[in-house]
Amino acid sequence: MERKIIKTADGSVTIHLPEWDEQYHSKHGAVQEAQHVFIKMGLYHYLKASPKPELSIMEIGFGTGLNAFITFLEAQNLPVKFNYTGVEAFPVTSQEIAALNYPENLSAENQEWAFQKIHGTPWEHYISISDNFQLKKLQKKFDEISAKNEFDIIYFDAFGARVQPELWTEEIFEIMHSALKDGGILVTYSAKGSVRRALQKVGFIVERLEGPPGKREMLRATKSC
Ligand SMILES: C[S@@+](CC[C@H](N)C(=O)[O-])C[C@H]1O[C@@H](n2cnc3c(N)ncnc32)[C@H](O)[C@@H]1O
Repeated sequence: MERKIIKTADGSVTIHLPEWDEQYHSKHGAVQEAQHVFIKMGLYHYLKASPKPELSIMEIGFGTGLNAFITFLEAQNLPVKFNYTGVEAFPVTSQEIAALNYPENLSAENQEWAFQKIHGTPWEHYISISDNFQLKKLQKKFDEISAKNEFDIIYFDAFGARVQPELWTEEIFEIMHSALKDGGILVTYSAKGSVRRALQKVGFIVERLEGPPGKREMLRATKSC
């Protein structure tokens, strides 16, 4: 499928799929969306409620590596060891990586090496990006995930239900529920009623939260202990 790099409202770029009229991130700001949905409402919410020396995060849709990079930047200021798993069936190309402006947009030009390392590391193994951040990229489909009680946080960042309804079903959320530890959370930019109900059906406790710029609401789902 054709993929085009476009600029979003906060100056950061994203990938646009003309055939689906869909983006990897919000047109209102890729970086702002990632910081709000995954870092503020996911990572910091979880650490505040359950401080821990070690955290395991799984990202559903590794894509451009933006969420991994932003999490890496936060990790550098936290006394926490991060195990980050990014699942992706259709990795971005080296030409696409070269067009991504995230280190510059985040004023983290001195961490450009880490963004490149995040993309350059081999798949399927944990690789250290820094002393407290290791990354494992898995090239597989989301319905092939078999992890059980492994993750504290899931960043659920699939394409929208309008274009991939099969990724927002009870079957997929059952896989996510099993992959989380008790007390673990899943955060997503989606606030659709059907998504909320599917999450509840598989046992999650679901909260509707303030959304990122340009979006009224988002969801956070907790696996009850
Ligand atoms: C919304 S984009 C992810 C954005 C990504 N988190 C980022 O920050 O760039 C959704 C991603 O899911 C991937 N994808 C789509 N269907 C998939 C599937 N069935 N299994 C695994 N990956 C899939 C796409 O290739 C795309 O990279």
